[in-house]
Amino acid sequence: KQKDTVPWFPNDIQDLDRFANQILSYGSELDADHPGFTDPVYRARRKEFADIAYNYRHGQVIPRVEYTAEEKATWGTVFRELKSLYATHACHEHNRVFPLLEKYCGYREDNIPQLEDISHYLQSKSVKGNVSLLNYISHPFLISQHAQVSVFLAGLAFRVFHSTQYIRHSSKPMYTPEPDICHELLGHVPLFADPSFAQFSQEIGLASLGAPDLFIEKLATVYWFTVEFGLCKEGNEVKAYGAGLLSSFGELQYCLTDKPKLLPFEPEKTCQQKYPITEFQPVYFVAESFEDAKEKVRKFASIIPRPFSVRYNAYTQRIEVLDN
Ligand code: TRP
Ligand code: FE
Repeated sequence: KQKDTVPWFPNDIQDLDRFANQILSYGSELDADHPGFTDPVYRARRKEFADIAYNYRHGQVIPRVEYTAEEKATWGTVFRELKSLYATHACHEHNRVFPLLEKYCGYREDNIPQLEDISHYLQSKSVKGNVSLLNYISHPFLISQHAQVSVFLAGLAFRVFHSTQYIRHSSKPMYTPEPDICHELLGHVPLFADPSFAQFSQEIGLASLGAPDLFIEKLATVYWFTVEFGLCKEGNEVKAYGAGLLSSFGELQYCLTDKPKLLPFEPEKTCQQKYPITEFQPVYFVAESFEDAKEKVRKFASIIPRPFSVRYNAYTQRIEVLDN
């Protein structure tokens, strides 16, 4: 049967745990050029976070972390500086949700919000028609191995987002070479509370299920230039909606200057663009709207050679496979 040649993919939300730890084992090692590389206290702390995440299983309460005074100070700097840029640089969806997170989830300069509280909030009725979950294992985009990237993308199909919990090194608050809790909470979370953005992200996840490696790589690139580093039109202006921009006060300013090159978001072209992962992006793609971006990804997904189509059932939390 044709189906036997399709790569394995998770059908049930619990299946996501199966590969989670593979991503993690890489996440705890720092490169020599990481700002925390020569700081033994920081490295020991990173090991603690890696252990918590390693032992985590989907559905458990996400362990609360008591952040140190130094960690809170780093968060405070990032929070204050970014907040002063959001009014002029962030898209309106981000600016609409941000005050709600301040009201309901403990977003404050002197407090690092807890993933469990946010996960609850994203699943609550106040986030309209929208079930988003946070799960937490490290971010896989620093490692381009298909098994890992594909698990991360598959999570999106279930509305599960794999998050980090550690914080960037205190010496470099304005830009860090890897995702951290500032990136997840300030960059990703506000947009996951927006229904059309959440659907757009899920669309990328659904497109990835059972897709050949070549397409997983293309979808990861699409994800990179949208969810992570996307810009969008707002009237005559361009604003940032990508989480990697919304969590870096260095890059958030840079992305709206005339230095980078801006191109229209077209998945067929966007998916071929090469990009650096540890410095400011030279190229960004501008979306017309989340609805438009979602339609384009859906069209792009239809050219992926798969002998079936998929649909997410939110009640059973299972992927339904429909034979073509
Ligand atoms: N530069 C981002 C920040 O300072 C974090 C980051 C590094 C990142 N690499 C990434 C975010 C890759 C998304 C994808 O917040
Ligand atoms: Fe991210």
